[in-house]
Amino acid sequence: MTTPLIIAIDGPAASGKSTLGFRLAEALGYLYFDTGLMYRAITWLTLERQVGIHDEAAITRLAEEVPIDVSAPSLQDGRVCDVVIAGRDITWEIRKPEVESNVSAVSAYAGVRQALSLQQRRIGLRGRVVMVGRDIGTVVLPEADLKIYLDASPEERAKRRYEEILGRGGHANFDDILVKVIERDRIDSTRAVAPLKPAPDAFILDSDRLDADTVFEKAYDLCKA
Ligand code: CDP
Repeated sequence: MTTPLIIAIDGPAASGKSTLGFRLAEALGYLYFDTGLMYRAITWLTLERQVGIHDEAAITRLAEEVPIDVSAPSLQDGRVCDVVIAGRDITWEIRKPEVESNVSAVSAYAGVRQALSLQQRRIGLRGRVVMVGRDIGTVVLPEADLKIYLDASPEERAKRRYEEILGRGGHANFDDILVKVIERDRIDSTRAVAPLKPAPDAFILDSDRLDADTVFEKAYDLCKA
């Protein structure tokens, strides 16, 4: 019985992957790596530099050329890490609605995926890692020792995202969030390259009626099984 060295967690928007991934990594003493923040960082830079969202070649160049720095948190404002791109701390900016509305379009570009997946794979193969995303178990690290696909209904996921935003002191509209979550899932799961879907060997956890502690316990049991 050995604890898996590479753990992949995939699933749709706001299904609780980050919460689970962070807790699992902490419990095992592993690196927690959230791949979504890389796609969000490139989307933020695209908007910041006013590159057209349909300009696939220019956005791919950004993904290939501009390094994304992820490091230990420098501030105690609820962040789990610092995200810096082109000298700017964008840790919270990448959570804003403008980024959220455009990230799935940017993530569908093959060149962007290739550039970011390569970096993710290099880090993942070092082991002792919990990597979270949409295509980790299927494309980035198909050799992962444990794959979890965390699912929940769109309504439950929108509720969680709504409460998360209010918890941070922000303003949100539940219906608006629900529409955006559904739209992001649609784009993520129908794109040609690395669409969101469970790997054939993934354990599927439906978290609709499970709180965060129970999801963690189930995932931890899978690590120790
Ligand atoms: O936290 P949430 O589930 O809302 O999203 P995220 O994990 O931060 O990912 C944001 C977006 O990045 C997703 O909607 C996907 O379009 C894209 N993404 C991806 O394509 N592949 C990944 N491995 C991770 C994220």
